[in-house]
Amino acid sequence: MDGLHSTITLNNGVKMPRFGLGVWKTDNRTSRDSVAAAIKNGYLAIDTARQYGNEQGTGAGIKLGLGQAGLKRSDLFVTTKLYNGEQGDYDQVSKAFENQLKDLGLDYVDLYLMHWPVDKTYIESYHAMEKLYREGKVRAIGVSNFDNDRMEKLLEEAEIIPAVNQMEFNPTNQEREILAFDQSHDIEMTAWSPLGGGESLTNPVIDALAKKYDRSAAQIILRWEWQRDIITVVKSTHEKRIIQNSQIFDFSLSDEDVQKINELDQGKRGLWYDDFQWHNSNGKVANGIDQWPDTRK
Ligand code: A2P
Repeated sequence: MDGLHSTITLNNGVKMPRFGLGVWKTDNRTSRDSVAAAIKNGYLAIDTARQYGNEQGTGAGIKLGLGQAGLKRSDLFVTTKLYNGEQGDYDQVSKAFENQLKDLGLDYVDLYLMHWPVDKTYIESYHAMEKLYREGKVRAIGVSNFDNDRMEKLLEEAEIIPAVNQMEFNPTNQEREILAFDQSHDIEMTAWSPLGGGESLTNPVIDALAKKYDRSAAQIILRWEWQRDIITVVKSTHEKRIIQNSQIFDFSLSDEDVQKINELDQGKRGLWYDDFQWHNSNGKVANGIDQWPDTRK
């Protein structure tokens, strides 16, 4: 039966849970608590990033959660991402990666993603990630926020096809062209901000479906993503919501209702390349979180 343990097989044969917890915009302490609560309540996938500044808290939460749930490290699937400001050659990327492992308190990660395709460095950085993969330090590699042009260029150069492209995906932003392109290359899409940063929760169509199925708006959206076969990492810092978000396996939306949500697509991205600068005036890659405005706020 479908559940938090359900996996998808990535293009290199590694199995990845289809549903997990994300920790964007969450400080170390809160990340620790929400990650531990998620694992205790059956989540088997955790998604973080260097850019979030919470890998230490995430690592502490993993340790705590595994202990409370009586699970082993190998039961869990951990994703983290290469920071824009640490892209570069193998020496630079492997140093960044080792620091991430140290902060996470882990000796490998399951999936290492390039967070954004920084134009001048993403090909070189991806080759460095391929080397980390060949060295067995990561079980799979992939990318995030890649449009089709950049993905096409990457595929021309890459020796290893990315396993995943993690994109903003929610009812009002369904990335149809990117999804079709990625699927045709056996690249799985993972959804970040699956609830539209919370904004989709108040959509009247979602609200009507929530009443019809006697579920919360979040459950309707997450179930829709499940039925669309999109891997989902959803953020909540409240244990009750962490639990509620995972209770989507005992009902299903009719095809007609899936279609109703499909029709909400407006191509409305909350955050995209144009919203922040790749490079500071000195030519260095912009590092600060301030460079990443969330245009929804
Ligand atoms: P909170 O952390 O206070 O629970 P997304 O994953 O699309 O970025 O959305 C995350 C946002 O949605 C967070 O602000 C989170 O708030 C909120 N959220 C997550 N789950 C629920 C839920 N079940 N009900 C209401 N809000 C939720």
